[in-house]
Amino acid sequence: MTEKKHILVAGGAGFIGSHLCEYFLGQGYRVTCLDNLITGREENLASFKNHPDFSFVLKDVISPIEWEGDIYAVLNLASLASPKEYYKYPIETLKVGSIGTLNLLELAKAKKARYLLTSTSEVYGDPQVHPQREDYWGNVNPIGPRSCYDESKRFSESLTIFFHRVHGVQTRIARIFNTYGSRMRLDDGRALPAFLTQALTGKEVTVFGDGSQTRSFCFVGDMVEGLAKLLFSEETTPINLGNPDEITLLQFAEMVLKMTQSKSRIVFQSLPEDDPRLRKPDITKAGRVLGWHPKVALELGLQQTIPYFLSQLEQCGTKIV
Ligand SMILES: NC(=O)c1ccc[n+]([C@@H]2O[C@H](COP(=O)([O-])OP(=O)(O)OC[C@H]3O[C@@H](n4cnc5c(N)ncnc54)[C@H](O)[C@@H]3O)[C@@H](O)[C@H]2O)c1
Repeated sequence: MTEKKHILVAGGAGFIGSHLCEYFLGQGYRVTCLDNLITGREENLASFKNHPDFSFVLKDVISPIEWEGDIYAVLNLASLASPKEYYKYPIETLKVGSIGTLNLLELAKAKKARYLLTSTSEVYGDPQVHPQREDYWGNVNPIGPRSCYDESKRFSESLTIFFHRVHGVQTRIARIFNTYGSRMRLDDGRALPAFLTQALTGKEVTVFGDGSQTRSFCFVGDMVEGLAKLLFSEETTPINLGNPDEITLLQFAEMVLKMTQSKSRIVFQSLPEDDPRLRKPDITKAGRVLGWHPKVALELGLQQTIPYFLSQLEQCGTKIV
C-alpha cells in the first residue's frame, strides 16, 4: 500500500485553513495543522479532529520548525488576518509574515515540498487602479496603521518568489480577496460579520463613510477550490482569488437586512484611516491559468452562512431577534 501524501497547513485552525484541512482529508491526504491559536480555534477542527489521517500540533511558526518524515506540500495561512486583530498584534503580524514565512519556506525547501502562500488583496493598499490586476504594484503607506499587515504580506511574497528563483522551491502565491463562510469569527471587525451580527441581534447596522466604498465577497467553498487548483498548478507568480461581483457597503447592508428579515436601522460612522475605497479582483489570470471562477453568488453564500452565525450567537447566549 502506498503512503498517503502529507500536507502541512500552518494556520489550519483558522477560518480558511480549517476548510482546507477538511478538503484535503476528503481528497485522501494526510493533514497536519500547525497553529498557535492566537486567533484560530480548536472548535474549527471539531468535525474532523478524530479523522485517522489528521493531527493537530500547537506551534508558533515564528520559532524554528523541525519535522521528521515526508511533506508533500506546506500551505502557509498563518497570519493575523483582520484589521482588528493586526491593530492589536502589529509586531506579531510582522513577525509571522517575515520569520514565520521564512521558517515555513526553509521547511518546504528541506522536504522538497510544494509551498503555497496565502497573500492578500491588501498588497494593493488603497489602489489607484481598478479592478486590481496582478501586475499592479499597489499603493501602500509603509508606516500607516495597516502597514504591519500589508508590508508583512508584501515581504512574504518577495521571500517566497526568491526561494523559488534561488533555491528552486515550487512556490505558489495566492492573493486572496474578502472571503466569508462558516468558521469565520463574528467579532473580527470586518463588514460582513459585523453587519450579519448586528442585523441578527437587532442592533444598529454601522456603515462607515457614506457606504459608497465597494467590496466583493468570495464564498469559502469557492476559495478552497481556487487554492487547491493553484497548489497543483505550475504557476509561480501571484494569482488573485476572489469574487469580482462588486457591491457598495450600503447595498450590502440593505441586502443583509432583507435576508435576515431584520428591523435594525442603518447608521453611518466616520471612515477609518486608510480604509480602502474600492476592492474588486481582476480574476482573468485565475480563469486562464487555473480554469477557476467562483460559482457561489453572494445571496446563496449568505443563505449558507446565516445558520452558522445563528448557532454561534446562540452558543454565547446572545439574544437573537
Ligand atoms: N479571510 C479573508 O478574507 C482573507 C483575505 C485575504 C487574505 N487572507 C489570508 O488568508 C489566511 C487565512 O485567513 P483567515 O481569514 O482564515 O484568518 P484566521 O485568523 O482565521 O486564520 C489564521 C490562523 O493563523 C494562526 N496563526 C497566526 N499567527 C500564527 C503563528 N505565529 N504561528 C502559528 N499560527 C499562527 C491563527 O491562530 C489562525 O488560526 C491569512 O494568511 C490571511 O492573511 C484572508
